[in-house]
Amino acid sequence: MINIGLLGFGTVGQGVYRILQDKGEELVALLGTEIEIKSILVRDLYKERKTEVPLSKLTLNPEDIVGDDDIDIVVEVTGDVDLSYRYISKAFDRGKHVVTANKAVVSAYFEELSHLAEENDVYFLYEASVAGGIPILKPLKDQIRANSISKVQGILNGTCNYILTRMTDEGLAYDDILKEAQNLGYAEADPSSDVEGIDTMRKLRILSTMALGASVTEDDIICDGIDSISGLDIGLLKEMGRKAKLIAEVRIVEGGYQAIVQPKAVPFGSYFSGVNGAENSVSIVGKYSGVLGFQGPGAGMYPTANAILTDVIDCILETQKKVNPLRGKRLENKNEDISGNYYLRISDYDETMEIPEKYIKEIIHDKGGEFAFITEKVKLHDLLYKLAEHEDKPFSLIALVE
Ligand code: NAP
Ligand code: HSE
Repeated sequence: MINIGLLGFGTVGQGVYRILQDKGEELVALLGTEIEIKSILVRDLYKERKTEVPLSKLTLNPEDIVGDDDIDIVVEVTGDVDLSYRYISKAFDRGKHVVTANKAVVSAYFEELSHLAEENDVYFLYEASVAGGIPILKPLKDQIRANSISKVQGILNGTCNYILTRMTDEGLAYDDILKEAQNLGYAEADPSSDVEGIDTMRKLRILSTMALGASVTEDDIICDGIDSISGLDIGLLKEMGRKAKLIAEVRIVEGGYQAIVQPKAVPFGSYFSGVNGAENSVSIVGKYSGVLGFQGPGAGMYPTANAILTDVIDCILETQKKVNPLRGKRLENKNEDISGNYYLRISDYDETMEIPEKYIKEIIHDKGGEFAFITEKVKLHDLLYKLAEHEDKPFSLIALVE
């Protein structure tokens, strides 16, 4: 018998519980042993939940799980950073494997937790933390052995992609769609981390650090979200034959690397324009492999729980190696060199802003204080510096993809 302790019983935790109930017998045949969820950590024992569970399995005390010698695998799906860091570390110390979907904790303590797991000869697996249901980290671990990765690019947040898709296709209001994404279980407990790009940035931090073999920290990534994109922006982009997507990208450049999360206006008919709803997509460019593409559900109960269970099964069957997948290369950050053509809309615009003529390639809207234009090729750093001089003027900045 393999005993699991679940830290968290929300969307993902309940998905894990339900799949195990559904597939229990088949899994016994596959694994030669039963999997039992022995205890589940929650904050509120009596909260109404969509999944029935015996009250005796619920606990408010993490020690009931991490301190229980009968528990072999801790599945961490709380979304909390401090508590989960403490209890993942303790679980390792006590010889337990840890599987998590929590990119916030993986991103915050990636190097330390990876090292600690190896030191204790236990598994630390987090497939569900990046791109939800898409198997991406296991294939990436294979690719970093012989291949040389020069770029990773993707749509990594289901909530943002769901919002942008429905704003574009149905003209719906941002706030209404965000509420729907929350009801569907896609959004984080605090959805500002989705819409401000932070969740995507954490996923890019995990992908980049693995892919480049060098620590790419949260501070090394330029991060913007979709919270300033309005119906007006969506409409103007549509007139240009484009739609907005939140895209994460890390790439090797002359002398180092660049890493950025930013909204991009992609042409209709292009690859990313076909990734819609809560779908995510990741592409890996390797020296020997060429472009490898992955696409699938980026959020939601069952896709994410399925990713968790593939990791749980890997722990039981010992299908993956327990070695720390991170390497210690040093690479220089070259984000200050990022440049491009941008769509820029400034609210409450007036002449005092003095946008240099050399920045403006084409004015596409100038009405009611909303001034939108396409820039000449400019350095992002310079443009943001200029905009920062006018903190009182909200703006929406979207990179144009060739
Ligand atoms: P959720 O629905 O908000 O559930 C969180 C669960 O953790 C709840 O059961 C909550 O207890 C419990 N919890 C939170 N903080 C706690 C604390 N300090 N002490 C004890 N229990 C605590 O979250 P979720 O959507 O399942 O997401 C869980 C994790 O998976 C997050 O890290 C998220 O980023 C990640 N993830 C989610 C998805 C998705 O589609 N939802 C996809 C990929 C990854 P109560 O029930 O008592 O409130
Ligand atoms: N809130 C996240 C998203 C969950 O919408 O993509 C999956 O990581």
